[in-house]
Amino acid sequence: TMPILEQCYNLMDFEAVARRVMKKTAWAYYSSGADDEITMRENHSAFHKIWFRPRILQNVENIDLSTTMLGTKVSIPFYVTATALGKLGNPEGEIVLTRGARKHNVIQMIPTLASCSFDEIVDAREGNQVQWLQLYVNKNRDITKRIVEHAEKRGCKGLFITVDAPQLGRREKDMRSKFSDVGSNVQSSGGDDVDRSQGAARAISSFIDPALQWTDIPWFLSITKMPIILKGVQRVEDVVRAIAAGVHGVVLSNHGGRQLDFARSGVEVLAEVMPELRRLGLENRIEIFVDGGIRRATDIIKALCLGATGVGIGRPFLYAMSAYGLPGVDRAMQLLKDEMEMNMRLIGCSSVDQLGPEFLDTRALSMH
Ligand code: FNR
Repeated sequence: TMPILEQCYNLMDFEAVARRVMKKTAWAYYSSGADDEITMRENHSAFHKIWFRPRILQNVENIDLSTTMLGTKVSIPFYVTATALGKLGNPEGEIVLTRGARKHNVIQMIPTLASCSFDEIVDAREGNQVQWLQLYVNKNRDITKRIVEHAEKRGCKGLFITVDAPQLGRREKDMRSKFSDVGSNVQSSGGDDVDRSQGAARAISSFIDPALQWTDIPWFLSITKMPIILKGVQRVEDVVRAIAAGVHGVVLSNHGGRQLDFARSGVEVLAEVMPELRRLGLENRIEIFVDGGIRRATDIIKALCLGATGVGIGRPFLYAMSAYGLPGVDRAMQLLKDEMEMNMRLIGCSSVDQLGPEFLDTRALSMH
């Protein structure tokens, strides 16, 4: 029998339930990583190489978890990152995540390859709720321009251009469980080049432009007033180049280990990037986000101590939504809030602006 929701005590518990109750093809698509899944596993275990240096006697009676991301005040420093094909796990799809994000005052990033239409996800928004758009760039730039302009018109507050997927990674679990219908609003680049024998991911991604390059960035900056963030940056040189190109942020990410296997974890890259940006006097020029393997509030706290503005979380909310619907997403977010409040108290910080590298021992990170 399936555990009741109240028996889920942390984000990993939702994964264990989802694995048992989800359709095989859906589980394969959500849970798979590229090749041998080394990077996917490393994403979470990299956090195990970072230890705390808590301080004492700080009056931690009241804890304020709120912060600001790209100008939006949020209640806790995580956002729901873009994950394609929400209806594989829940018949209502991405709007379940919209409602959960609303309840907890966190931002949702809408995927290009959502199962619900973009407008359905925007229409599910309530009050002054904030959403961002994740963009896969179409070979046909007219289509891309229309999508970007429409998102801005509908009130999206950030444009996250995915730059780590010029070709979709090989996710063998997904390829083995051939899918038939994913109900996504699949874009095309002209011609019917959808090949369903390669798994869900590859079938829906053939429109993505592998020729995208740095010289395209000014064009994106010219077609929108939304802040532009490059999602999938993996080295300090590219962060510096992103700043020079005039974008507003980067996500240090390896796409949840679904693209290049043996890419380093986002948090490891963050530990390399921040000291270098400080050395160059560039640390306040750009907002740095991290995603991949964030499962505990201690992971969030570590990323913030290293200098991240906020973190993205993907699979845990998909699993919570697939296993329990909105109450699952609600509980997953509440568990993170409770964990974070407790751990902030235990390291001696009452607000996120107090977090800094002095709270960490990262010596194990640099030893391989
Ligand atoms: C993703 N991710 C992703 N990223 C993106 O830019 N566009 C996309 O369409 C998708 N789709 C997608 C589907 C699924 C099922 C997963 C698990 C992930 C990557 C996502 O935004 C993020 O980088 C990772 O999911 C973060 O890692 P965790 O939190 O899942 O470990």
